[in-house]
Amino acid sequence: MTKFLKVMAAATLLVSSAIAAEYTIKVTHVVSPNTPKGKGADFFAKRVGELTNGKVEVIVFPNSQLYGDGEEMKALKLGNAHIAMPSFSKFTSLVPEMQLFDLPFIFRDKDHLYKVLDGEVGQILKDKVSKKGFVALDYWDAGFKHLSSNKKPILLPEDAAGQKFRIMSSHVLEAQFKAVGANPQVLPFSEVYSALQQGVVDGAENPLSNFYTKKFNEVQTDLTLSNHGYLGYLVIMSESFWKKFPKDLKPMVLQAMKEATEYERKEAALDDEDMLAKISEYAKASGNLKIHTLTPEQKAAWQKAMEAIYPQFYKTIGEDLIKKVQAVK
Ligand code: LMR
Repeated sequence: MTKFLKVMAAATLLVSSAIAAEYTIKVTHVVSPNTPKGKGADFFAKRVGELTNGKVEVIVFPNSQLYGDGEEMKALKLGNAHIAMPSFSKFTSLVPEMQLFDLPFIFRDKDHLYKVLDGEVGQILKDKVSKKGFVALDYWDAGFKHLSSNKKPILLPEDAAGQKFRIMSSHVLEAQFKAVGANPQVLPFSEVYSALQQGVVDGAENPLSNFYTKKFNEVQTDLTLSNHGYLGYLVIMSESFWKKFPKDLKPMVLQAMKEATEYERKEAALDDEDMLAKISEYAKASGNLKIHTLTPEQKAAWQKAMEAIYPQFYKTIGEDLIKKVQAVK
């Protein structure tokens, strides 16, 4: 190819890609791109580009770069961002019933969890969110949460007593820590590392992916594999944005989301093992972190102490909804 032809070819490519991206979807989230949620968002971006032949470009803003906790939903309402995947606790003021997912020990395992998310209860909650001016898309997974501290090993509920724990903004999480004599403190995710480092709080509860990718292992001395609660997400879209979005491109975006959901959930399943290996490696190499597992008796003690809060939320969440979850086999 002559130099002239090469320049022409490059110019054509540039022009066509500039013309091609006719629409932009801005995705905002607060975690690392290396988490299941981060990977799911990037996968969605790639698939939308492929399925629309580059007509729609998805730009992902991770790590609270664009909007942090409490700002994401407002940004969607204003149309400044278009898709977010906040964790369930972040829906507390919008749809208090979403706190159902925060109830400690409500899910027996992942199988139970997915049956609930993809069944009647999941749909009831999506409908509630939809009524608040969002398009409720899919449920994404982060994993079960574990307790960590820089004070002492937490093996029994009384070990947590008197310690300050960072929580997301959820009344259920507040009650859960109060039930074991601990002091919960609401903080945005972006502030957790420094709060742990500076002793603003002693501990936190996180799935392993968030714990490791945000380097909380560096500022905690003890991690207990407590599996006491669950962290997941509802992917939501700005309703006003979606209303104006071209009809012919909608099926591609929805298809990309469907595939991203499958991918994200698989990643979450794989991720737990991988993260535990990495955290264990760190613990061994640094000598600064101890990892604890609970005996069945210790686990039962946590369960007893924490499940005692359920009746406090029969009204807010709905006793029937809680019972429906428990009845799912
Ligand atoms: C948290 O605030 O701990 C989580 O909601 C962060 C996230 O989105 O996983």
